[in-house]
Amino acid sequence: MLIGVLSTNASPGATTTAMALSSVWPSPVVVVDADPSGGDILAAAGPVVEADREHNLLELMRLGRQGQIPQVLDSQITTLPSGVPVVAGLAHPGQAGGVPWTDLAEGLRAVTHRDVLVDLGRWGVPYAPAPVVRACDLLLLVVRTQLRGLRRAQRILPLIREDLDRHNPGGGSLGLMVVNDHGPYAVADIVRSANLNVPVFGELPLDARTAAVFSEGATPGRHLDRSPLARALPTVVRTIGQLAQQQRALGTRAPLLRQQPMTPTPVPRQPVEVPAPGVQLREMARGTRRLTAVPSTPTGTENS
Ligand SMILES: Nc1ncnc2c1ncn2[C@@H]1O[C@H](COP(=O)(O)OP(=O)(O)OP(=O)(O)O)[C@@H](O)[C@H]1O
Ligand SMILES: [Mg+2]
Repeated sequence: MLIGVLSTNASPGATTTAMALSSVWPSPVVVVDADPSGGDILAAAGPVVEADREHNLLELMRLGRQGQIPQVLDSQITTLPSGVPVVAGLAHPGQAGGVPWTDLAEGLRAVTHRDVLVDLGRWGVPYAPAPVVRACDLLLLVVRTQLRGLRRAQRILPLIREDLDRHNPGGGSLGLMVVNDHGPYAVADIVRSANLNVPVFGELPLDARTAAVFSEGATPGRHLDRSPLARALPTVVRTIGQLAQQQRALGTRAPLLRQQPMTPTPVPRQPVEVPAPGVQLREMARGTRRLTAVPSTPTGTENS
């Protein structure tokens, strides 16, 4: 299975989410860093593994040319202290233009001995790995429950959807991985009110301490497994795994990877609609207030 994790520039969390999910993945897995802006996955490894720069995405592409990516994948894996196996990414954005993303997409789709979670970075940046995005069985757009991130998601989701429909009709499934900022609204209400029109595949809590273990290589505390993020992971992983499996089984044909490059179509701007009761729209628009209004129907679980 090939599962892509994307972010937008107002809602970071792609790398951390991919790493966190993989840390409890129930079967062999690898996180491939395909962020065109340059990889930062080895930051979670500390200085020792940072030195191990010869195993990386470019080397995977070099050794795996002529359709050998599944066979050489394991030779490029670095195992982080957290136990998560990763393929380190590009050293800087200048390398992205030279990566044959279509070959990577086809190669990763052909991997059967591991599930692959691919960190796709921010959507829509120059030299983005569009063919890899199109090849995924499941695509997770990480979004935080804050107005800026929701607005950004609202603008790019139709573009991603349209690109997938054109290049992988009936293929990969697109949804949200919501990082919940603990406002009193239910995540589903927020997503619905922002007209995002995509399913929520999973919900993770805002938990900076545990997130830093995956993003910065911070030392895990003794009670890591009892942290909010760690406790949320198994359910999310189960759901994601099942959805991706269903999607792969349903996929009647491979995506049209060797079609035209992406040509984004301008999408009319839509107003962000937030739930009417109690929401201080003006304050939120000024950025002085987050989506934390009291809902008309309390959800019970969102504040815990
Ligand atoms: N669930 C979370 N709770 C709290 N903090 C988080 C969570 N997920 C990510 N973070 C933090 O947000 C910051 C950015 O995360 P991350 O590097 O994963 O984002 P990104 O989308 O990969 O960003 P970039 O575009 O720079 O690659 C990090 O400091 C990370 O620890
Ligand atoms: Mg990242």
